Amino acid sequence: MTEIIDGNAVASAIRAELSEAIETLADAGHRPGLATVLMGDDPASQTYVNMKQRDCEEVGIEGTHVDVAGDAPAEELFETIDDLNDDPDVHGYLVQAPVPDHIDYQQVIRRIDPAKDVDGFHPENVGRLVAGDARFRPCTPHGVQKLLEATDVSLEGADVTIVGRSDIVGKPLANLLIQKADDGNATVTVCHSRTENLAAKTRSADVVVAAVGVPELIDGSMIGEDAVVIDVGVNRVDADTEKGYELVGDVDFESTKENARAITPVPGGVGPMTRAMLLYNTVKAASIQTGVDVELP
Ligand code: GUN
Repeated sequence: MTEIIDGNAVASAIRAELSEAIETLADAGHRPGLATVLMGDDPASQTYVNMKQRDCEEVGIEGTHVDVAGDAPAEELFETIDDLNDDPDVHGYLVQAPVPDHIDYQQVIRRIDPAKDVDGFHPENVGRLVAGDARFRPCTPHGVQKLLEATDVSLEGADVTIVGRSDIVGKPLANLLIQKADDGNATVTVCHSRTENLAAKTRSADVVVAAVGVPELIDGSMIGEDAVVIDVGVNRVDADTEKGYELVGDVDFESTKENARAITPVPGGVGPMTRAMLLYNTVKAASIQTGVDVELP
């Protein structure tokens, strides 16, 4: 029987452990604080930041949200960032991407205090991760690692094929999985839009991670017997539903389920893990900044 990996259950267990760490910090007078910044009014981004704020409330993190008008000059966004860098009650924050076209997101990332960069996108944090000394693992790759651990996947010497080379998922995940560590030690192949014979590279893998943003690009014929499939994709496709769309992953779930040993659903797989690991990074940031030691899951 193919195991359907329950991201909600794994995320819920992590949140429960984080709640204890949060109470330890709060008892010491330092309730962890997370801020979200949204520039513009992209509906999907609004949904994401609302969910992040709701998560904060549930676990006892002080959540704050800052809206910046979509047509505001870059300086206004930078002032918001500078204020958050200076606010001792905000231990971590993020600027939701995508930002409007007149804003250079790389400039935004570089302006964020790396000690508060709970996305793990600042070059200092990227460098530390590559060097094997990560401060904040980016939330989605970290969530994928936790899901693999919860599914008892042995990565030691395993062939992992990652489809997608984004700065947010593919690149950091590849770097994490090749680290000399219990949750690393894999042999990683990173595929992308110029890769030739993609199917051969996915079919020979013990673990396939799809993070490419193309609806149902990977189907069952591209997956080897007993492979573990992690679907990071969240794609809105037109559908005859109340909202006029439905969410599908980068993997064709039905055909892939036949071959795979285990597979994540969309929704309910990687998504809740990404959100849980943002809370994790916020607690870690608060612990580092306040000097209060806590146990992290
Ligand atoms: N937009 C989509 N995913 C992310 C993320 O992980 N962080 C931020 N800041 N924006 C995003």
